[in-house]
Amino acid sequence: MTIEFITAQVSLELMKSLVTYFTQTNNTKMIADAIFETLSVQGEAIIDTVRRVDFESLNKYDLLFVGGPCHDSDLAPPVKGFLEKLPDSPKFKLAGFFTHSTYMRDSDGRNGALYDKWAGLCHVTFENTCKNKNIELLGYFNCMGKASPPIEGFIRQEIITDDDEWNEYLPALRKHPDSNDIENAKKFALEITEKL
Ligand SMILES: Cc1cc2nc3c(=O)[nH]c(=O)nc-3n(C[C@H](O)[C@H](O)[C@H](O)COP(=O)(O)O)c2cc1C
Repeated sequence: MTIEFITAQVSLELMKSLVTYFTQTNNTKMIADAIFETLSVQGEAIIDTVRRVDFESLNKYDLLFVGGPCHDSDLAPPVKGFLEKLPDSPKFKLAGFFTHSTYMRDSDGRNGALYDKWAGLCHVTFENTCKNKNIELLGYFNCMGKASPPIEGFIRQEIITDDDEWNEYLPALRKHPDSNDIENAKKFALEITEKL
């Protein structure tokens, strides 16, 4: 009896992703690390700061996660600068993430209004960049991040001036990013990869 072996060459293309971020006090790095951990299980993943990214190599990625802190209601300048330098109509798709010290946008009331005023430009910047550069934006993630002492002082003086509100807000803010934020960031990363 002759047994014929047919050799089929199966080429498994692993998803290639880059997680790149800017951070000053490590809040955004914690989220970047959580996203990176999830992506590493899904395929090939690299993590680096926005300042170290080689723009020539970007087209080898299927997916870019770009993140940073919110500064002055928008993404911090190094992240905006990075987004501005992205090529037009690249091969990769993009997902964004950012941390901020204002409330989450979980209601239409005062907290939602404060979010819009103090962090609302972050997603606008992701959306506009992707629209202008013909990049598919797959979504974005955000969570609260503890503030440095000068920023805490600014918030106390300018935004949360009521004592009772401050006494509730500050201890809660100082816990972020918390384990829940980390888990949510991992879930977000997984959901994004499922969209590819
Ligand atoms: C210069 C500066 C400006 C900031 N402006 C805002 C702001 O407009 N809205 C806000 O919600 N948080 C603001 N923050 C707080 C940061 O977004 C927050 O602490 C963030 O989690 C810091 O992330 P990082 O640790 O990755 O640097 C500001 C922080 C700094 C240093």
